[in-house]
Amino acid sequence: MKIDGTTKIVGIFGAPVTHTASPAMHNAAFASLKMNWVYLPFHVTLADLPAALNGIRAMNLIGVNLTMPHKVAALSLVDEVEPEAKKLGAINMVMVEKGRLLGFNTDAYGFVRALQDEFNFDLKGRSVLVMGAGGAGRAIAVKCVLEGAQHVWIANRTASKSDAILKAVGAAGTVEAIPLTNDAIRKVIGRVDLMVNATSVGLHPGDSLGLDPTLFTPKLCVFDAIYRPAETALLKTAHAAGAKTANGLNMLLHQGARVFEIWTKDKMAPLAKMRQALKTAVYGVSK
Ligand code: ATR
Repeated sequence: MKIDGTTKIVGIFGAPVTHTASPAMHNAAFASLKMNWVYLPFHVTLADLPAALNGIRAMNLIGVNLTMPHKVAALSLVDEVEPEAKKLGAINMVMVEKGRLLGFNTDAYGFVRALQDEFNFDLKGRSVLVMGAGGAGRAIAVKCVLEGAQHVWIANRTASKSDAILKAVGAAGTVEAIPLTNDAIRKVIGRVDLMVNATSVGLHPGDSLGLDPTLFTPKLCVFDAIYRPAETALLKTAHAAGAKTANGLNMLLHQGARVFEIWTKDKMAPLAKMRQALKTAVYGVSK
């Protein structure tokens, strides 16, 4: 790639940002389409986020992705938030448009596309158990409601956080909060079509939610938003019990593809190239 005076710059803000696979995915897309664009990682702390966002406006970047810990904080720092992202309560991308900062959420879109890819699963009329009530849990639970899910249970260790989502969503009757325990999950699992892990449990070796293997059946789809490691303890247990399982790599891929399409004003994302680059960056293999 040759950087010159016309190179368009995009990137990602995070802290830490050292493990991000997004530069590999996006730069592979740019290279495959011979675009003079570059995607860079920027270590930006929460305290510096306002200045950094003003910086992308001042420097005329196309836009940036946002990762930990910025997805919720950035909501109040941009000029405009797309209506769906407001409901989801988080943004993972900011684009500069005529000097204004526009906030988007493509994580939720990535989640829906990943369910289709992995399980041929459509949320409409289905029942979902979402574990986790942080930024990721909220966005996933709300997206399920927006896509027409019949019922959504939010299971979280800290009840006040799931209660806060219930208040924000206002979907009385559709969304219900339960404790993140085997007993509470056992009471509803017979009605659950899809179980989602949106907690951070599973990221570190030895991490486990400790769910009882007897909760899982072959009719259940289990989606873990975590993609590194490729198989969390949850997915291992679910798989062994015959449930259909998938990790979060396809969600990451599809959120990135959507970002690519927004930044390039609807150029089609080279999905196969992006998937291959992502797998190589995350797992060190392309297959
Ligand atoms: P994110 O933006 O990725 O959602 P977060 O806002 O820090 O990150 O949320 C982390 C989620 O993982 C929360 O639902 C958290 O539960 P609490 O609300 O009770 O903190 C959940 N989590 C983290 N560690 C956990 C653990 N050891 N057991 C159960 N849940 C855990």
